[in-house]
Amino acid sequence: MDSIALEAGLVVESRYCLDHWLGGGGMGVVWAATHVSTGQAVALKFLRPEYAAELGMHQRFLREARAAAAVRHPNVVAVREVLENDGFPAIMMDLLWGETLAKKLAQAVARVSAAGQVGCNRCSQLWRENLPLRAKFLPRRICSSNSD
Ligand SMILES: Nc1ncnc2c1ncn2[C@@H]1O[C@H](COP(=O)(O)OP(=O)(O)O)[C@@H](O)[C@H]1O
Ligand SMILES: [Mg+2]
Repeated sequence: MDSIALEAGLVVESRYCLDHWLGGGGMGVVWAATHVSTGQAVALKFLRPEYAAELGMHQRFLREARAAAAVRHPNVVAVREVLENDGFPAIMMDLLWGETLAKKLAQAVARVSAAGQVGCNRCSQLWRENLPLRAKFLPRRICSSNSD
């Protein structure tokens, strides 16, 4: 079975117009799409083109869709339907917004190092002025004072 070329503007099953690529995993590629009549924004996951000819991967893809559709939980993306798409199926699900974990972690590291820098600056200032340091490390800030 041949794959289809996924690109912005492609209309899938006469209903969902592909907008932009969202990401790729081990099995699928995911696109943001818009329902042509309602304007609803959704996510469509397609089997990776290299697996398009493998019947076993098609079955596995559909098993994933069924398993995911059976779960209803605020932390699990809702799978709405499977589009047959002329033998090149797509899983239609809610579109999620957010940042990647890698970006969140990079921001968290930057915040911790900025807090550390504030503490270091304060310590070195007190040391230069030969003043005693009283420091408290609180969850949200570092407080220091040179008096009791
Ligand atoms: N519902 C969604 N909304 C927005 N982005 C999504 C959605 N589902 C998947 N993605 C993006 O696509 C990537 C690949 O999806 P994933 O489900 O991990 O594919 P695979 O099943 O191949 O592992 C994710 O890492 C994420 O960036
Ligand atoms: Mg994945």
